[in-house]
Amino acid sequence: MHWKAEYSVGIDEIDKQHRVLLDYFNLIKDAVAAGGTWSSLHFILIQLHEFARIHFSVEEALMHLFGYPEVADHMGLHQAFFIKLKELEQQSLKTDVTKGTVEFLHNWLVQHIMGADQGYARHIAGGAQVVLTKPSKLA
Ligand SMILES: [Fe+2]
Ligand SMILES: [Fe+2]
Repeated sequence: MHWKAEYSVGIDEIDKQHRVLLDYFNLIKDAVAAGGTWSSLHFILIQLHEFARIHFSVEEALMHLFGYPEVADHMGLHQAFFIKLKELEQQSLKTDVTKGTVEFLHNWLVQHIMGADQGYARHIAGGAQVVLTKPSKLA
């Protein structure tokens, strides 16, 4: 699965992070296809989990900073990803991870980028201002 221009959210740093996430899926698919030891796949899944945690935190910070009204819903979507990823991690320990499960999570990510992520990016690119502390609270 290769990066496509239509995946861009228009924020360079976020696009770079999305590329890293998609690269992890390529590694996961290769590991599943190679049918190696459970640990080779599990290790990549843990790395994906760590990077997704950082990436989602960056996005959630941006949404809070720029007063994106749908931040709570978006955070819920991120949590749903972790639940599915955890299932995949458990699967990798016990049974063979199927291509179908990997595909499901991969497709989820692409749809998330092209839907929810492009949504908050439009909010920011559309001229949203950083939410400032009200003067009365500064005194
Ligand atoms: Fe994202
Ligand atoms: Fe997101």
